[in-house]
Amino acid sequence: MRQQIVAGNWKMSKNLEEGLELTKSILEKIDKPKGLVILAPPFLHLREVGKIIRVRKHFHLAAQNCHHEEKGAFTGEVSAPMLASGGVEFVILGHSERREYFKEKNALLAQKVNMVLANGMRPIFCCGEPLHIRDVNTHIGYVAKQLKGGLFHLNEEDFRKVVIAYEPIWAIGTGRTASAQQAQEMHAAIRVLIAKRYGKPLADETTILYGGSVNAANAAEIFGMPDVDGGLVGGASLKADDFAAIVAGLK
Ligand code: PGA
Repeated sequence: MRQQIVAGNWKMSKNLEEGLELTKSILEKIDKPKGLVILAPPFLHLREVGKIIRVRKHFHLAAQNCHHEEKGAFTGEVSAPMLASGGVEFVILGHSERREYFKEKNALLAQKVNMVLANGMRPIFCCGEPLHIRDVNTHIGYVAKQLKGGLFHLNEEDFRKVVIAYEPIWAIGTGRTASAQQAQEMHAAIRVLIAKRYGKPLADETTILYGGSVNAANAAEIFGMPDVDGGLVGGASLKADDFAAIVAGLK
């Protein structure tokens, strides 16, 4: 089902105490959201943040990553079964920071996607092009490759559970947002790709979020675009007021 979603990706920010404070103020400031509100704090915070948000409808818990194997000798890693057992419902996969700093490739991401789904959670699968690709106007083909490599092996039933986040790398943490038209163009193109693989009805049902310098001032315009179903928010998700204003921008 196509859903309106705002997801806050805290990245490696906030110690536990600060994270719980932030969670409480977010809950205070958001009353009846028009869609789902997802919080993606660091691993350590998940359990406690989950306990706080559990009492509220519309609020959901996401992890920022997981390992592609179920268990084993992978010191320092966290598995999908562990996350599921801790009440996590969504897992962000393929964020450009993971792709860049941790060298995560599409084939590995496909394994992670499978692991998340096998454990009853839903992937928030990120895609998006770097600036040099946008500059030569091959951004749609670039994103198509990411989707084919990481997601399009799924059967229909599993694909239905996936949320896609389009995040142009040049807009992440840079203050340089894609224009609402640029977001719309790519989201529409992603829907065409999905329609080719899974048919138009499923493409129309897929939730596609925009990410990259979404803030309180630009959220409503971007979310107002017909193929944009909300946002994946980094920096502005760390301030309850800003995050609440962004959630209020859902259509
Ligand atoms: P930003 O990050 O909102 O700080 O640009 C978005 C993201 O990385 O998901």
